[in-house]
Amino acid sequence: MQKKDLFEKAYSESGEVSFSKSLIQFLSSDVSGRFLSEISSFSCLEIGVGQKSLLDSPKLDFLNKKVSSYLGVDFSSVAIERLRKQSNLSFQVVDFCEFKSEDRFNLIIDAHCMHTIADHDLKIKFLQNVFDHLEPEGFFFLESMILPNLPTDLIEYRYEGDGKYYYKDDKDDRVVLSLFKARELEDILLSIGFQIFYLSCPIGLKFVAEPFRDYPLEGDPDVMRVILRKM
Ligand SMILES: C[S@@+](CC[C@H](N)C(=O)[O-])C[C@H]1O[C@@H](n2cnc3c(N)ncnc32)[C@H](O)[C@@H]1O
Repeated sequence: MQKKDLFEKAYSESGEVSFSKSLIQFLSSDVSGRFLSEISSFSCLEIGVGQKSLLDSPKLDFLNKKVSSYLGVDFSSVAIERLRKQSNLSFQVVDFCEFKSEDRFNLIIDAHCMHTIADHDLKIKFLQNVFDHLEPEGFFFLESMILPNLPTDLIEYRYEGDGKYYYKDDKDDRVVLSLFKARELEDILLSIGFQIFYLSCPIGLKFVAEPFRDYPLEGDPDVMRVILRKM
């Protein structure tokens, strides 16, 4: 099944409307606030918005007040239709790898989208497209799953030969992820031309992608938080 169809299926089957707590935590943290206070007004692009925009979180009121224009994009039409019913913000159904706009944004947020793309070249295309749609001096906030730094025999998930591919299992209806190592993602971001203003892989912070557990396992993906700028 195509990745897009998997998301459509998941959204159709679940009425649950949420946004990521960890992204809210990242965007409302002291370090983010320090960078965001440098700009008085934001044209904002949220990629992979899902069923709820981050700007709907009361914890991000400080940011919301500065947003002069907003566009949320997602390739799931089910998610975007739901959003349009409950919000006056602007949304577009589009695969971000193919997204083209004359508009440039001074705040782009990857709302846990990039790391769901399995194909390596498409991930690069995605990140290059972020760079191309960023205003000079604009910010890109990226929170991404990365491969946990563990010996393979401790990892509960299976990796393909070169250590790059990460599968929960090989069933057809599972999302297959291809995760970067932290250093690999850092090098890609630099090679695209981003300047890294902040980069952190908080020890112990894990992505728990399974709905039936809320506790992390050693083999769960680590988290990388990055604040990038196009200078
Ligand atoms: C993990 S979900 C995150 C949803 C929401 N932002 C949240 O924090 O709960 C990733 C979202 O990215 C969307 N997505 C994945 N690949 C995409 C692409 N290439 N272009 C646009 N949206 C994409 C999916 O439909 C899904 O809504």
